[in-house]
Order: sequence, then structure tokens, then C-alpha cells
Amino acid sequence: MNQTLFPSIPSPCFVLEEALLERNLAIFTRVQREAPIKVMLALKGYSLFHSFPIIRPFLAGASASSLWEAQLAAEEFGKEVHVYSTAYRDQDFASILPLASHLTFNSVNQWKRFQPWVQNSGYQPSVGLRINPQYSPVETPLYNPCQPGTRLGISPEFLGETLPEGVEGFLSHNLCESDSFALEKTLLNIEYYFGKYLSQIKWLNLGGGHLMTRQGYDVDHAIAVIKDFHQRHPHLQLIMEPGSAIAWQTGFLLSQIEDLIPTSEHINVMLDVSFTGHMPDCLEMPYKPEIRGAFEPENGQVRYRMGGSSCLSGDFLGDYAFEQELKVGDRLIFEDMMHYTMVKTTMFNGVTHPAIGLLKKDGTFVLWRQFTYADYRARMG
Ligand SMILES: Cc1ncc(COP(=O)(O)O)c(C=O)c1O
Repeated sequence: MNQTLFPSIPSPCFVLEEALLERNLAIFTRVQREAPIKVMLALKGYSLFHSFPIIRPFLAGASASSLWEAQLAAEEFGKEVHVYSTAYRDQDFASILPLASHLTFNSVNQWKRFQPWVQNSGYQPSVGLRINPQYSPVETPLYNPCQPGTRLGISPEFLGETLPEGVEGFLSHNLCESDSFALEKTLLNIEYYFGKYLSQIKWLNLGGGHLMTRQGYDVDHAIAVIKDFHQRHPHLQLIMEPGSAIAWQTGFLLSQIEDLIPTSEHINVMLDVSFTGHMPDCLEMPYKPEIRGAFEPENGQVRYRMGGSSCLSGDFLGDYAFEQELKVGDRLIFEDMMHYTMVKTTMFNGVTHPAIGLLKKDGTFVLWRQFTYADYRARMG
């Protein structure tokens, strides 16, 4: 790594790479062309609206999990706006109604409570319920929507013989960075547990977690599975709403080394980015992000521990080794930092918030946003 890495980009900065985003969109274009399914962008995973003009032509709309996401979807994405909330609030509901083409409820109670609002509103969103398909391949409880006692989605025993009046669709979200075989099993489970309702609905949203853009994902198999299911239920409009997969490996977080502090075991690399503030999934999941040019240290190699810029004791990750000795002022690239990063950052400790920009196909850089003290201050009043 060296000091001249991307000299035209300020550090720290989230950098979206246009060419890589287009590569992912090409995969979803193919899926929608070859399988009877519509794809929405899940804003909870990626809401960088400056890039929506690149994405919009290839997807059918966006999905939102709150009033603010629904507003952003309607303002900046357009097309269909699918809204699902774990629990709608009275204060928000009237504002969500004009925005939503599809409106999904997490419980029958919530639908019953808001049914009169919908019916008297003059708007006609297509109403759905979130179901729990009784299966998830996700082993980390933090990301498993079907864990025992889950608050997300309705289990079959809580639905009567016929669906509540007005319900036209189901949303099932049980995957996370999953493959096509998990999709296949999900569809079988939906048929097994919710089969008797499928003739009563018009659409089935298969949620997110379909990591179709990961190398090795069997897109052909996914297309075959979707087509098969559709043949058995030709009246159903199938939908999916990936977040991660759209922004998967489409950009990085550029950072800079501000200090190096040797200890007897390793060298602490003091960065201008924070794991807890800017890459929280690294600590929550947890996982060790890839750094460009770095590798696993072997015995006897200098070990570098990446230290975040907050003063949280656990704001570090490691260890890493490099071909060359690191120096103050060097720049480091944390790979694959577009999904579930910018949407989750905090301004904890008031540390410099990463800017956001686009690396265009022609190699030029466009700075979309830089944050200032005024942004930090505004969070508190
Ligand atoms: C209901 C729902 N839809 C879609 C998504 C997007 O999932 P992913 O970003 O893993 O594709 C999520 C993620 O939590 C979700 O809860």
C-alpha cells in the first residue's frame, strides 16, 4: 500500500465502482429475463440514492422497511414501492399509504388495526402478510429471522382456514447471503406449510438474502427453481428484494494510517476509520474484512492489528500481514464495503465520517457527499 493510492479521493471515503455495480445489475437483468420474477432493491441494505439512476433501469422498484425508506424510494427510485414494517405506527401510517404500491404486515393484528385506514384512504396498495417459512439456513442468531420465538413473520398455525379479508400476498424473508439450494428449500417449505393459501393470493415476495452476484452462485439452478415453482402456481407474481446482492463487491472504504503503535505481539495501526462507526457488521457478525494486498500472518511475520478511530476498546480487527512495511500516511482499502455499511454508520465519538463518491468507468472520481461538523451537531438538535 502506498500514499499515492487514489490521490484524488479524500480519506476516509466509501467509493462505489460503477463498472462493478453494472456487472451485478447484468445478473439481475438476466434473472428477470429468464425467470418469471420481479426484483426490487431493498433499501435497508443499500440506499445510496445518487446511484439510483444507474440501478433504476434494471429493477422493478425498491422495497422499504419504514416511512423514511418509503419516502426515499418514492422520491429517488420511483417505480413500485413495496413497504414492510415490523410494526407500523399510527403517526407514520397515513404518510406511508400514498407511497406504497405494496404494503405488508408482520401480524394479522396489525392488518386488522390498519385495515379501516387503508379502506377509507382512497389509496389501493396491494396488501400482504409476512410469513415464517419455518426454515432458515442462517446460523448466526442475529441474522436468523426464523429462530425459535421469532418476532418476524406469521407461523402457519396462526392463520385460519382462509386468509383475512383483503390480503393478496405473502412476504417470506429467511435467507442471508444464501445460495440457490436454500431458495429451493424455502419454496418447498412455503408449499408445505402455506400451500393451502397460495390459491388465495396474487403475489409471493421471496425477500432478500439471494446472493446471486457472489462468485459460484448457481444462477441457472435458481432460474430453474423459480420457473418450476411458477409452473405449479402460474397465477402468482413472484418478487424478490435483495439488498446485499445488488451492492455485493461493488466498492470499498478508503482509509489512511494516522499512527503505528508497536506492542510486544503486534503493531497497532491507528486508522481514520472505525469498525464500530463505519463497518459495524465486522464486529456484530463478526467477520474479518479483506484488505487489499494484505494476507494472513504466518509465524514470525509482522502482525498488523487494524485499530479503529473511536475509543471503544474493541474497535479493532486483525491481524493482517503485508509484503511491505506500513508507514504513517499510507492508504488502506477495505474491500466490499457498500452493503450494510453506509446505511448503518454512526457518528459515534464524532470521528470523521467517511465521504461518499463514485469511481466511474472512465477512471474519474465524483465526490457525492462530504460530511462536516454541522452534520454531527445536527444529530442532537
Ligand atoms: C424483509 C427483508 N427483505 C429484504 C432484505 C434484504 O436482504 P439482503 O440484503 O440480505 O438481500 C431484508 C434484510 O434484512 C429483509 O429483512
